[in-house]
Amino acid sequence: MKILIINGPNLNLLGKREPDIYGSRSFEDFFEELKKDFPQAELEYFQSNHEGVLLDKLHEAGFSADGIVLNAGALTHTSIALADAVAAIQTPVIEVHISNVHRREAFRHHSYLSAKCVGSIIGLGLEGYRLAVEYFLKIRL
Ligand code: DQA
Repeated sequence: MKILIINGPNLNLLGKREPDIYGSRSFEDFFEELKKDFPQAELEYFQSNHEGVLLDKLHEAGFSADGIVLNAGALTHTSIALADAVAAIQTPVIEVHISNVHRREAFRHHSYLSAKCVGSIIGLGLEGYRLAVEYFLKIRL
């Protein structure tokens, strides 16, 4: 069971970035816990601030991984290319957002990705990633 978590722009700053919105925990720290919680899964984490690099990673993993958990950050609201990539690959993708984007600025309310994803988990903090992994392990696979 190979599950890849992909984080997009600015999510390398989790823990330091607007902690009132995104919390004070780094993703690396959370990911260590996640790996311990799901020893039965082969979990991989990838982050990039670059749209093209994210596209390449989706293409690379999207025909071999069993599931992808994607938080594309602000690219969620702008990138038709990422939406096309999610549609193009075979691996199912779950969209995650740490904050409840629907309680924030209007420009965050639309996602190009949602319609191409299996589902979306929004506003549950880092727990959203855990729930997405759980879904892949317990329900989808
Ligand atoms: C985010 C929400 C986006 O609107 C924002 O640009 C991010 C993080 C979230 O996880 O809440 O970078 O995807």
